[in-house]
Amino acid sequence: RTVGVVLAGGIGQRVGLNTPKQLLKIAGRTIIEHTLSIFNGAPEIDEIVVLMAPGFTAEVEQIVKRCGFHKVSKVVEGGASRTESTWRALQALGTEECDVLLHDAVRPLLEPRIISECVEALKTYSAVDVAIPSSDTVVVAVPGPRGEIIRDIPDRSRLRRGQTPQCFRLSVIREAYERAFADPDFERQPATDDCGVVLRYLPDVPIYIVPGSEHNMKVTHPVDVYIADKLFQLSSNTAPLPASPAAYQRALMGRTVVVFGG
Ligand code: CTP
Repeated sequence: RTVGVVLAGGIGQRVGLNTPKQLLKIAGRTIIEHTLSIFNGAPEIDEIVVLMAPGFTAEVEQIVKRCGFHKVSKVVEGGASRTESTWRALQALGTEECDVLLHDAVRPLLEPRIISECVEALKTYSAVDVAIPSSDTVVVAVPGPRGEIIRDIPDRSRLRRGQTPQCFRLSVIREAYERAFADPDFERQPATDDCGVVLRYLPDVPIYIVPGSEHNMKVTHPVDVYIADKLFQLSSNTAPLPASPAAYQRALMGRTVVVFGG
């Protein structure tokens, strides 16, 4: 059994609206609807569990019903942090062994190729991450006398940007989380993602990396809503999303351009 867990327990403070950003409409559908549609349509996924921001589970239940997302078995309230939402998802899943793909609801442009490669990798590894190379140089900052100063500039060729889904055998992620929640230090210094919890509490478990994609962006800041909308326009023109500059050019040229002003 392979379960997709869609994490939508956040409120989207950085986007700054009064409804959670996963309920924003992009290209005619809410963000969470796009994401659920990808998982519901993936042949590798048998069941979907959704963790939704408290107070908004009824909205998701309506979407599930209206869109006929038959694989969704549970819509559960998320926790106060992302890790607490994952913890609640693990509790909702019970103890029967299965493969789990934990995905950010706000990555609505996930390609089916990534789901397939993750499920395939789980046949060999019990923990799998999705990551892409970093095009920016990443610097390590520390407090200085007047603002921040650079402590280190790690070798960019070894750096990757973590995406989702993050995928595990259920028993492995459960064990990591049980250890984390039994550790008083975890509350003071929580992890920002699920692979971080496995790395910290089960350091002997290798975490395999599946190559992610630039399109698999996380809608985090207001500008991302605009970028994601543009990417959806392109994908509706030229499914799947273009991979080369020339293909982007062709896709854009096929569109009506509206010029304002002047
Ligand atoms: N998430 C969650 N439960 C939380 C916090 C976050 O399930 N308590 C989910 C979000 O809904 C999102 C994903 O984790 O799909 C990635 O988190 P992020 O982009 O940080 O979302 P928010 O926490 O909503 O954003 P912000 O930090 O701006 O408030």
